[in-house]
Amino acid sequence: MKKHYQYDVLVIGSGAAGLTLALSLAQHAKVAVLSKNAVNQGSTWFAQGGIAAVLDDQDSIDAHVADTLIAGAGLCHEDAVRFTVERSKEAIQWLINQGVNFTKENANGDYHLTKEGGHSHRRIIHSADATGQAVHSTLIDQVERQPNIDIYEHHVAVNLISQADAGSRKLRCTGAYVLDSEKDTIHVFQAKVVVLATGGASKVYLYSSNPDSASGDGIAMAWRAGCRIANMEFNQFHPTCLYHPRAKNFLITEALRGEGAYLRLPNGERFMLRLDERAELAPRDIVARAIDHEIKRLGCDCVYLDISHKSPEFISEHFPTVKARCLEFGIDITKEPIPVVPAAHYTCGGVVVDKNGHTDLQNLYAIGETSFTGLHGANRMASNSLLECIVYAQSAAEHILANLPHISAPDTSPQWDASRVRDSDEDVVISHNWDELRRFMWDYVGIVRTDKRLERATHRIKLLQKEIAEYYSNYKISSDLIELRNLATVAELIIRSAHERKESRGLHYSPDYPDKSPIARDTIMIPHNFAGQDVIVSKEVSPQK
Ligand code: FAD
Ligand code: SIN
Repeated sequence: MKKHYQYDVLVIGSGAAGLTLALSLAQHAKVAVLSKNAVNQGSTWFAQGGIAAVLDDQDSIDAHVADTLIAGAGLCHEDAVRFTVERSKEAIQWLINQGVNFTKENANGDYHLTKEGGHSHRRIIHSADATGQAVHSTLIDQVERQPNIDIYEHHVAVNLISQADAGSRKLRCTGAYVLDSEKDTIHVFQAKVVVLATGGASKVYLYSSNPDSASGDGIAMAWRAGCRIANMEFNQFHPTCLYHPRAKNFLITEALRGEGAYLRLPNGERFMLRLDERAELAPRDIVARAIDHEIKRLGCDCVYLDISHKSPEFISEHFPTVKARCLEFGIDITKEPIPVVPAAHYTCGGVVVDKNGHTDLQNLYAIGETSFTGLHGANRMASNSLLECIVYAQSAAEHILANLPHISAPDTSPQWDASRVRDSDEDVVISHNWDELRRFMWDYVGIVRTDKRLERATHRIKLLQKEIAEYYSNYKISSDLIELRNLATVAELIIRSAHERKESRGLHYSPDYPDKSPIARDTIMIPHNFAGQDVIVSKEVSPQK
């Protein structure tokens, strides 16, 4: 049966961003949290390395800011970086207060801080090598104790709902159409405020470290609702994912390199030494590109990450998850190197928001990986993502609580109309297009892009989108179809943004334009203007001191 739900705040997404926001609102507002599958199947659960924060007396906010700006290759918004880093200690304290059990260094209770690429200090607080699980399970425990928060698992948001109030031409977001994928029914969720916390879009690539949920739903929904989307060409490839035919997507945390692991060619040579003075701890874009180059140059399947020179006790203490998972594939990391390849890992671009996580559509917010705050620039520095989730969820919560008393309940929205669609008789269209899309994105819009490859991708995405649109308007929707449609939108935004950037910077590398432009510009896509056309603008980022 179709239902009509009413809440103060609808949070779409149950990762670090969505749960932090829900908890920060729960004393004062009635909140619904949607998760399109089980509550712990977003990226947060799988995070390994940790959370970057200024926690050590020898470290400083200025140093963390400077490292982030360098990793971001001139495209970070310095105000967003400072805003985030200045709140880092408080964000970690909030997590500790919730009960997150971070790894301790000694019996005095000092926390162990590890290091990752681009960081000039040890500043990554972590729970061994399963930080995401520790953070997420703690937040879920807390949420379950809150009578004001209702969690809906297996509920997939399809589209946002907006309305113009009487006497106003300005639209405001008032809810979402949501598919209950277990009962195959579409409900209306109405709320005074809606928050997109849907994670990233790295599943648009064939090889990815991300769980299947990372299909860019929030970005696609916001785009359809009229919001600006920025810098989609900057998809981060993590340098080291396990290369094994039976391992679907398992990350080998950068903290291994932080604790001294070497990258080696099949002949044992340490190749990063000749490419960058920071060697294995250069920022991710540099290491991933170097690995890609070596694999193509040598025609080999993978390179190797070697920590076997450290003691077995050290490895077991710091990397129990990686060790156990590799052992399942017959690889003993205490004795032998790990075969690794780069894979799509993180969406640096997203829905344009301000410091409160507010988007272009009134009462619609976006937080976490789905948003574009300006923090990451052209390449996210390791472990800044979970930090961004917590900091922006908290600032959004403050803004929402200040505004809620002034927002009226929305008008009743019509139910979803499925009267003109029928059951699909050819689901193969969906699975085929999923595969095709992810493969051409990997081949043509991957670590290295050329104009020719981007043109090929443009041609293919147009054909696919036509087919998907036809399918969408004729057949009943399913979660696979919703994701495919969203992935196609995100792919289109990535291709168009990549085409627009006539330089190489951070994660965007094109041999056709190998140099970095002297002026750093964001690629901002604005959907359907008054003439029904999308517009792309390149906006100069304030020069960094
Ligand atoms: P997610 O945790 O991805 O959650 C998204 C939620 O949205 C899910 O609940 C999903 O079900 C829901 N959702 C999506 N679409 C819909 C829809 N249409 N309807 C309803 N619900 C929907 N970052 C760090 O800072 N440190 C690390 O150590 C680290 N390690 C990582 C390791 C791995 C393997 C991966 C994949 C990422 C890692 N990252 C790390 C990145 C970081 O984990 C993510 O950026 C972050 O967890 C994103 O959190 P989020 O709350 O924005 O989204
Ligand atoms: C890792 O542990 O290598 C992932 C860290 C991150 O993506 O920030």
